[in-house]
Amino acid sequence: MLKFNDPAISIQNVTKKFDDHTVLNGLTFDIPRNKITTILGFSGAGKSTLLKHILGLLKPSSGVVEVLTQDLGLLDRIALREFRRNFGMLFQYAALFDSFTATENVAFPLREFTDLDIDEILDRAHGILDSVGIQKISHDKLPSELSGGMRKRVGLARALALSPQIMLYDEPTTGLDPITTKMVNELIVETAKIHKDRGLTSVIISHDVRASLAISDYVAFLDRGNIVEYLPAKEFANSPNPLVQEFVNL
Ligand SMILES: Nc1ncnc2c1ncn2[C@@H]1O[C@H](COP(=O)(O)OP(=O)(O)OP(=O)(O)O)[C@@H](O)[C@H]1O
Ligand SMILES: [Mg+2]
Repeated sequence: MLKFNDPAISIQNVTKKFDDHTVLNGLTFDIPRNKITTILGFSGAGKSTLLKHILGLLKPSSGVVEVLTQDLGLLDRIALREFRRNFGMLFQYAALFDSFTATENVAFPLREFTDLDIDEILDRAHGILDSVGIQKISHDKLPSELSGGMRKRVGLARALALSPQIMLYDEPTTGLDPITTKMVNELIVETAKIHKDRGLTSVIISHDVRASLAISDYVAFLDRGNIVEYLPAKEFANSPNPLVQEFVNL
């Protein structure tokens, strides 16, 4: 198993049971800072459940989840909510507010969580939109007036608004056409690069093996609540694990 000094996320012997159904099974694994790590696995493997533990939305039945050296088990509900500002999330469907313009969508977390005045907020929102490739003429458009790819960009801009330490991508390309898929993958890499100096950690949950191998630094394979393979992306396709081979060759 790969080990990292000072990981962004450290999962230590985590078991999660729903009644007597064990979904995470003594899971131990670290996610490095300032890298792109993808978690692959068949449907039902426990990927979303793992993600919810990293966000502190679910508590483990036993074991420890540490994020940025903080043991999430020691935080109460309010402290957890505050702690989640360290995360940016990009969901499968961008989950924008339909009645808000692109700028208003990005401004929303800044209005909620900062003391910036309205001019500073608008400045910052426009700057982030520019940085993800949304041009000025689209800043005041509603989501319904934007293409699927542009909505993803706005979703990413909103996720980046509070300068999170960790970006979580949940199935970022599932259901997209090939061209938009390529764009989103490039956007993930570009975002990691732009924010590398301040140490942005990227975690992707995905089914898309080929893209994962191309854009990630590390790839983990989750099977029935355990990480059964974890390798630098370049070596992943050569894993001797038969399940990994089955998945890679699907
Ligand atoms: N709140 C819950 N209560 C009971 N069982 C749950 C709950 N959440 C998840 N499970 C079960 O845990 C298992 C793993 O689910 P999870 O959603 O984590 O899988 P996944 O790897 O994300 O799958 P997919 O690729 O389909 O999204 C499934 O068998 C699911 O039914
Ligand atoms: Mg899932």
